[in-house]
Amino acid sequence: MAIDYAERIPNNVNLSENRRLRRALEQWQPGFQSWWAEMGPAGFQAREVYLRTATSVDAQGWASFGYVRMPDYRWGIFLADAALDRKIAFGDHKGEPAWQEVPGEYRGALRRLIVTQGDTEPASVEQQRQLGATSPSLYDLRNLFQVNVEEGRHLWAMAYLLHAYFGRDGREEADALLRRRSGSADNPRILGAFNEQTPDWLSFLMFTFFTDRDGKYQLASLAESAFDPLSRTCRFMLTEEAHHMFVGETGIGRVVQRTCELMKAHDTAEVGRFGGIDLKLMQKYLNFHYSVSLDLFGAELSTNAANYFSMGLKGRFNEESHDDDHQLKDASYRITQVDENRVVQKDQPALLALNETLRDAYIADCARGVSRWNKAIKAAGIDFELRLPHRGFHRAIGDCATVKVTPEGRLITEAEWAAHHAQWLPTAQERQFVGSLMIGVTEPGKYAGWIAPPARGINHQALDFEYVKL
Ligand SMILES: [Fe+2]
Ligand SMILES: [Fe+2]
Repeated sequence: MAIDYAERIPNNVNLSENRRLRRALEQWQPGFQSWWAEMGPAGFQAREVYLRTATSVDAQGWASFGYVRMPDYRWGIFLADAALDRKIAFGDHKGEPAWQEVPGEYRGALRRLIVTQGDTEPASVEQQRQLGATSPSLYDLRNLFQVNVEEGRHLWAMAYLLHAYFGRDGREEADALLRRRSGSADNPRILGAFNEQTPDWLSFLMFTFFTDRDGKYQLASLAESAFDPLSRTCRFMLTEEAHHMFVGETGIGRVVQRTCELMKAHDTAEVGRFGGIDLKLMQKYLNFHYSVSLDLFGAELSTNAANYFSMGLKGRFNEESHDDDHQLKDASYRITQVDENRVVQKDQPALLALNETLRDAYIADCARGVSRWNKAIKAAGIDFELRLPHRGFHRAIGDCATVKVTPEGRLITEAEWAAHHAQWLPTAQERQFVGSLMIGVTEPGKYAGWIAPPARGINHQALDFEYVKL
């Protein structure tokens, strides 16, 4: 369906035919705009940025590129096209037609899922708010802003569902999404990782690789939902999300590349004094961002997750690719747990273990990215491998939250942890060092010394293209 850009709120949901809903969303819109002005990227709001905007939602033609000032970005409501006669693929309602309305008995649960997802979107914009000043290039600055405006649009996507399908409670929840603040003591964002700081660009690139990838897995499992508007919303969000992970994977790849160049040029692994970031230090950042992102999937055993699945609200990643009955009443699944001070594998009811099932798919995806970085390190002739730490390392949620686990997966005492954690996680001093490298580079075609230029520009533009007009 074509997107109507003549409306105040661009959309492909026929907003012009639903005047009550349109009016409600038009009342929410100024709140969104003042949130963006207050909590969106600091500075640069008056600058023209080379951004892509959705023009249609089909696979090929949805992105159009052009200069736009961020406050003028056309945030709107875009759902992927409806699948004809879509049937529910899993749970107690498997085989029934997908729902176009919210069943009364699932209202609370569905609202909670949508609010939790919706809350992460503005949170990441808030976390990344100060990064513009220290961007390593105009290319990277533009990518940051692209991610930011799209997270803003994802907030719209969830606010739309709340307004359109959840009545007054939905409107209140949509307002609350604009009131919580990442890291606030009084009114924080819902999930832990979204209250952490993103103080420097290495953190940002790690965040887009690890934490946006959690987003991919959450959206993909919500795209399986029996509630069709949620499914269609998430399917379109996933196409945008792919760019965020591209920023992370290629970004870290470019830091790796630059570090390898410096290592060879100066014949040392310690490239800090040459303005680079040691591979060992990158490993520590990786350990941190990976572990806080693993927490986002929740506890290993969860009756909420089981209920969401049985109700048909949230499926597995690529539900239809699973070769089973898609109801899982008698199935079991092997998970990692702590038992009498040992980390062990145990078979548990598959329904209860759905968080762990999704986490496993995520871990495999992360591992693929890490192996691509390792290939580049190897190709540079350097004997070093980045590694995903053990899933129990540095966890705040789940079985391993109560114990201390090394990156190799060995259970250790609090005293051992206290003595060694500085080898595994960035120290304050190391964070300060990374911060000291973050000096904004704003000349077209120039790149900061700690990161290599990208292999190619955005939308076939040159590397020295003026991605942001300063
Ligand atoms: Fe998002
Ligand atoms: Fe994202």
